[in-house]
Amino acid sequence: MNFISASIWTLENHCFIVYTMLLVSFVVFTLFHKKRVEAQAVRHNAKRLAPNGAGTGRERERDFPEDDPDPILTSAIPEDTPHIPYKPVHRSDDEILQRSREYYELMAQRRSVRMFSTEPVPQEVLENIIKTAGTSPSGAHTEPWTFVVVRDPEVKEAIREIVEEEEDLNYRQRMSKQWTTDLKPFRTKAEKPYLSDAPALLLVFRQTYSWKEDNTKRMHYYSEISVAIAAGILLAAIQYCGLVALTSTPLNCNARLKALLCRPGNERLELLLPVGRPHEGATVPDLQRKTLEQIMVKI
Ligand SMILES: Cc1cc2nc3c(=O)[nH]c(=O)nc-3n(C[C@H](O)[C@H](O)[C@H](O)COP(=O)(O)O)c2cc1C
Repeated sequence: MNFISASIWTLENHCFIVYTMLLVSFVVFTLFHKKRVEAQAVRHNAKRLAPNGAGTGRERERDFPEDDPDPILTSAIPEDTPHIPYKPVHRSDDEILQRSREYYELMAQRRSVRMFSTEPVPQEVLENIIKTAGTSPSGAHTEPWTFVVVRDPEVKEAIREIVEEEEDLNYRQRMSKQWTTDLKPFRTKAEKPYLSDAPALLLVFRQTYSWKEDNTKRMHYYSEISVAIAAGILLAAIQYCGLVALTSTPLNCNARLKALLCRPGNERLELLLPVGRPHEGATVPDLQRKTLEQIMVKI
């Protein structure tokens, strides 16, 4: 009897050890495979997008002169830039009233959409939207923005994997209880199917500085607010042409997405916007906006 129960015990133990080993191998393989796919995507994009190795850590280092106490200062834009007449169409009060109402009606319909149709959108539409964002004002006309358009399904998938992995940690560990509680009405989760479904992802990068023609550093004054204004104009252009977007700020994804998309060291990811048409079953939270009286002070 003792022999039988000892054999069963040994068999059970062996099964347990075999199951544990299989489970550990599976987990290790899955993690290894995911990292390999991401590394492959980075290498693949590095070849396609940045032949000089930008964003991969192999880009050519620019030499910035050491702090010179008495440097020869050059302006980034020629000092003798001519000033030319600016005469847009003069419109009557009736006309500007009518146009202001129409534009408000259009913009009041804008919503952040988290359920997208997979229907493609023409590349030229995306280009026009980005050209519109590029008309934004910026501190000392530094234009401190780069818009990356991703339509390639494999790259969208790689972005989704990175964002979902980080969001899982964000929701479980990085965000405060108050934060996740405040997000509940929006029903947001770590899973982001819209990153695969939307026909295009627009990633807005902020250039914290750049280089002048003479290879000296160009300061980007007020780059945060400049990029925020450009993003607002981008959203307005998306709304005007009849598409939808989700303004999203993927927390802790900057380094991995920069590497994936081969962005240089002077850029920082500010926004990730899936753009396209809404899914036919799309819903949005029934939010109320503040009234004019609540947001305006008349003096
Ligand atoms: C700076 C900023 C960051 C945002 N980040 C996210 C985000 O990471 N994920 C998300 O689902 N929505 C995000 N949103 C969308 C907001 O939740 C949304 O704008 C807000 O609920 C108002 O809804 P509406 O855009 O439909 O008017 C963000 C919006 C802004 C302006």
